[in-house]
Amino acid sequence: MNLAIFASGNGSNFSAIVKEVKQGKIKAKLVILVCDKPEAFVIKRALRHKVKVVLVKREDFKNRADFETAIIQMLKAYKIDLIALAGFMRILSPAFVKLYRNRIMNIHPSLLPAFKGSHAIKDAFDCKAGSTGVTVHFVDQEVDHGPVILQRKVKIENRDTLARLEKRIHTIEHKLYPEAIKLLAATL
Ligand code: GRF
Repeated sequence: MNLAIFASGNGSNFSAIVKEVKQGKIKAKLVILVCDKPEAFVIKRALRHKVKVVLVKREDFKNRADFETAIIQMLKAYKIDLIALAGFMRILSPAFVKLYRNRIMNIHPSLLPAFKGSHAIKDAFDCKAGSTGVTVHFVDQEVDHGPVILQRKVKIENRDTLARLEKRIHTIEHKLYPEAIKLLAATL
């Protein structure tokens, strides 16, 4: 099973997945990192782990369709079976999602459908929710939506600051995402 990770930023989930692939816990080959930001720290992580980086900048294309066509050509060239979005800060078009139906997964730092969007941890913390969580799901045509693969609830503790809660959520993400990929890799 050939895996591609899409990321735009820090890449801590990327590293957690690489680690388990390298240890042979996930029966998949991590073939490429697709990144849209040349300055993203995830690129350094990929180079350190000798994972090939495909940099595709949106501004190099006249529209989203051309940008996505270039990505799809790459995915085909590398015979990618499964895509893991890990902090990829772009919304994929309905046509892209349809082409890779049930082959694109995403991780989101809340117990979806609660707290969609890019400030999910802060939103849960600010509204004093008793709990939040982490969700790994298939990507469909709606943002932060689609069949759930794995979910874990996280209680918000009295002594949590936003930074502490973020840290706890990320620690759970780094276990849950590899676990979900492992499940899918076993079926593909
Ligand atoms: C994670 O919190 C993930 O849930 C969200 O984006 C963040 C990416 O973090 N989709 P990192 O780049 O993997 O450190």
